[in-house]
Amino acid sequence: MKPTGDANPVLYVLGEAPGEDEDSEGRQFVGRSGKLLREAMRRAGVDVAVCWDNCVRCRPSGNRTPTQEEIERCRKRVVASIERARPQVILAVGAVALAWLTGETAITKWRGKLMPARVGGHRCWVYPILHPSFVLRSGRSFGGQETVEWEPVFRRDLRGLAARLAAGLGRARPESPTRADRGVCYATDSRGLSGMLAQLGEWANTKATVAFDIETAGLRPYFFVPSTAGWLSIAVSDGEVTWVAPAHHRLAGWLADDARRLREGVLAFLKSPCMKVAHNLAFELEWLTWMYAEHGPWRRTGWGDTMAQSYILDEHPGVHSLDSCCLYALGMRIKSLGGVSDRSKMSEVPFDVLLRYNAIDAKYTAKLYAKQREEILAEGLLDTYKMQIRRTLTLVKAQQKGLVVNFDTVEKFSKQLDRKIMSCMFKIQDSEEAALYERKTGKPLSPSSNLQLTVLFRDILGRPEGNRSKNKSGYSVDDAALSAMGIPMADAILELRTLQKQKSTYVDPCMPVGGLVSADGRLHTNFNAMATVTGRLSSDSPNVQNFPKREHGWIRAMVSTPKLDRNWKIHEHVMVSADYGQIEPRVIAMASRDRKLCDSIRDRVDIHLDWAERIAEADPKTYRRYGKNIKKLRQDVKSNWVLAGFYGAEYESVSARLGGLQRCCRDLFEQFKSEFAGVWRWQDEQQVAYHRDGYVVGLSGRRRRAPLSTNQLLNNTIQGAASDIVVEAMSRLSVRADREDQPAFQAVLDIHDDLTFYVPKDEVDRITGEIVREMLRPVYDWMVVPLSVEVAVGPNWADLKPIGVYFSDEVY
Ligand code: URA
Repeated sequence: MKPTGDANPVLYVLGEAPGEDEDSEGRQFVGRSGKLLREAMRRAGVDVAVCWDNCVRCRPSGNRTPTQEEIERCRKRVVASIERARPQVILAVGAVALAWLTGETAITKWRGKLMPARVGGHRCWVYPILHPSFVLRSGRSFGGQETVEWEPVFRRDLRGLAARLAAGLGRARPESPTRADRGVCYATDSRGLSGMLAQLGEWANTKATVAFDIETAGLRPYFFVPSTAGWLSIAVSDGEVTWVAPAHHRLAGWLADDARRLREGVLAFLKSPCMKVAHNLAFELEWLTWMYAEHGPWRRTGWGDTMAQSYILDEHPGVHSLDSCCLYALGMRIKSLGGVSDRSKMSEVPFDVLLRYNAIDAKYTAKLYAKQREEILAEGLLDTYKMQIRRTLTLVKAQQKGLVVNFDTVEKFSKQLDRKIMSCMFKIQDSEEAALYERKTGKPLSPSSNLQLTVLFRDILGRPEGNRSKNKSGYSVDDAALSAMGIPMADAILELRTLQKQKSTYVDPCMPVGGLVSADGRLHTNFNAMATVTGRLSSDSPNVQNFPKREHGWIRAMVSTPKLDRNWKIHEHVMVSADYGQIEPRVIAMASRDRKLCDSIRDRVDIHLDWAERIAEADPKTYRRYGKNIKKLRQDVKSNWVLAGFYGAEYESVSARLGGLQRCCRDLFEQFKSEFAGVWRWQDEQQVAYHRDGYVVGLSGRRRRAPLSTNQLLNNTIQGAASDIVVEAMSRLSVRADREDQPAFQAVLDIHDDLTFYVPKDEVDRITGEIVREMLRPVYDWMVVPLSVEVAVGPNWADLKPIGVYFSDEVY
């Protein structure tokens, strides 16, 4: 089927393949999904000349997705048609068209992103949208539980296209891969190095921003000698001219002194006033602060981060790599140019390939920064971006400080767990069930093999607990199924699983060798500031946010305190945990300004307890289910009634979450809604803003974009603002740690709403007082209710004793 529509279109609609209706009519997009697309384009005001085409021009049998071979067979002809039609924009309809144009397949991530591209010899814009058949199919579903409507997203994207067409798109100028090496200079001998250092000196005084990138032998610096080892090369670029130099290779033409000259030249450049820009600045800063230790200008210069720009422009994961950002903003993938596939194995890459790769990264980081900056400014997101940049050095410093590991405790736990694991194994082996398995199969039972457990429980014992309902296929030996069996052998397997998880997830990574502990005896966790959609931090290597706090909280005793100060003198430290109390209701009060909620918080009313008591009185049956334990009921009421209600849950869901409430509680919930009417007004306003703009804005300016369920659009902005309060306080304290030369102000951990510090024991009162004061400082005008901080102190992470609760309206 040839393209139909206008021969000189502004818009070239590229779909997947004709369906049955298209096939019989000989025209694209005339079936059910085609009609939806045409109607949505008309309603959105996409009023330009259109040409219609598909990646595959014949109908694949049975309307299946075309194969790659079918797609490639048609490619030449489709490219030729686009070259002839010379459209301004190609509308990539669905994942197949997106992949055809860019190689990307995740249409839900790339939809709505206007990007420059090259098709054959034609340069134009590409605008991906969801496929209408996906919109028709998916209705209102997303991730199983949450409901997200895709159709409004689809329609909004088309309105976005109409607005851009009306405003005028300008010419698309994708970068050209054949020019990737242009302007790259290699400082691979002494003379070259002099040229590079002269250029750096000039840029330091004349440029507002310079991009840089370093290549290293590993991902984290802590296993390398700080001075040079591990650092392979560095590239700097203003986007036009790029210099790259090896860091410490013994090359012909390098003089003995050159490595030192480079090191000092780079430090002088870092100290200069121009802004230094990297992609994933945290990575570069972690290495630089390690290599230059305290000599760096870390807080006296400006930093930029193209990954942070990308994250602030679109918080969804999966689009923030340098490669993805370049595809989006510059219309060119850069990783395919470099010939390096695994950044953690850079020392194995041939030297010339490494330097070229490094140079290209720096060059396109410079170009990307300029492009994304325009967008940040146009969207009014500069302050949010700056907030994101502020936290980078703070988190790097927390990582670098690291957690002291008590190896005696680790070894004790390891041995204890080994013993318990052995005893569990014996219990399982000695069981009748295991003996039966061995008799029937002739092999001993391995309790970690799900296949063998399935044979035992399903085929030999005929246990029904693992049967899954029709829509979930097969038989399961998951925890729920085993605990439903109620037999000692299944319980022993459950216990074994728990013990093995404790050992592999928490204890093994803390072992002195073979785990994640660095040569300095510390755990340097990695805080990710751009991995969640809400703006909350996550952590890995190890994931310290995952270390249990209540049940199995003993595990935290492996993390202890330093015994020396930075001058290697004996100086006992304690751990101080400062936890923002009730931060979510406080932020909801700040966002909604609901009078009752604000007053309750100011008057120190425990809202959760208040509602637990009201429910207990109205519904004695539920109260009895909680063993008349009001504290226990309060715990559940907090998340399942109060916070769930504030985040938009309906009564039915609240009742189900609390195990089914008596009918009278429906009236109580109505009362709850009317008492906090301002919160429901805020909910409505957020919904209106979301449907109008396609995103909601949190108190700290962070955006959360479509598609969102009701719960997400209310909850995520609150979580984001709560996290920003915590991390901003951590940053203020980190700045003070440097400025006032008080290392104890630098937190070592940020676990949700809790900041943890190593504080010298003899100064604990003074320093804790300062920390609390800073955390409670009302720095934003939207902080209309007090914050509170609960402080606990102890000799290790498990044995923290509460010492007090402080409120900002008492301190300020
Ligand atoms: N109709 C087409 O022509 N192409 C599609 O991808 C879907 C419907």
